[in-house]
Amino acid sequence: MSLIRQGAMALGAGAIAATLLAFAGPSFRGEADAAVDPAKNVQTLKPVSSFDKIKDKNKRAIALFEEAGKVIQSPRCMNCHPATERPTQTDKMRPHMPLVVRGDGGVGAASGLACNTCHHDANFDAAGVPGNPKWALAPIEMAWQGKSLGQICVQIKDKERNGGKDMAALVKHMAEDELVGWGWNPGGNRTPAPGTQKQFGDLIKAWAAAGAACPKIPASSGKG
Ligand code: HEC
Ligand code: HEC
Repeated sequence: MSLIRQGAMALGAGAIAATLLAFAGPSFRGEADAAVDPAKNVQTLKPVSSFDKIKDKNKRAIALFEEAGKVIQSPRCMNCHPATERPTQTDKMRPHMPLVVRGDGGVGAASGLACNTCHHDANFDAAGVPGNPKWALAPIEMAWQGKSLGQICVQIKDKERNGGKDMAALVKHMAEDELVGWGWNPGGNRTPAPGTQKQFGDLIKAWAAAGAACPKIPASSGKG
């Protein structure tokens, strides 16, 4: 084995990742999916009060959840709740480059690249890498991609599939979790989730208070 090769092998995964980042060029960094920098979201959230006129409780709950669904189904959330082992990225939800997989605890496979090799505690805009102290891929039972909003709704209420959260814990997670909050401060030219986390939390709280009914699941999609 040549000395050069040994030297290359001695480099840790971190150095390899740094090299990948350095050589991958602009196409690796956030492509200009949104034209402005920093990106704004033109989509807003309606306040809870605008749903007061819906007298039927279930209909009101569904309308509130559909409004909150603008956030849930935004690329900022969906990219981390994929249906496969691999995250997606950018506003276009492309497969994550380079290839990384969930592994144990969502932080990367033992034999592959760990998320925190590149994703640190905060967004690092110089390299176009988003960051948060809790950065990890959502477990497979929390997969949202490819599901209807009704299916996602049923799933997030299901303690078997939502990490054992009761309604209060689920509401708190949506309203206060800092990784969820990253969706409104995504860095780079990523489009933030619509509205604010506070408005989103209020919609989810009002949905829960109205009985937490879920939108109808289209007949074409399989059971959630
Ligand atoms: C080699 C470095 C590297 C590793 C390792 C890595 N990522 Fe990334 N990741 C990036 C970069 C760079 C971006 C930004 C790409 C862009 O916006 O074009 C990114 C973007 C993402 C996004 C998209 C954010 C958005 O909404 O656009 C998600 C989700 C993500 N990574 C999750 C993960 C997870 C989970 C892991 C571990 C299993 C991981 N990444 C490991 C470099 C890495
Ligand atoms: C960097 C990856 C990442 C991003 C971005 C992300 N999540 Fe998650 N999400 C996770 C992980 C990991 C878990 C599991 C750990 C936990 O419950 O705290 C999770 C769990 C959840 C849960 C628990 C219940 C369930 O069935 O999914 C909800 C609700 C949730 N996320 C909402 C959101 C929303 C809303 C957004 C966007 C505003 C979002 N997430 C963005 C990684 C992410």
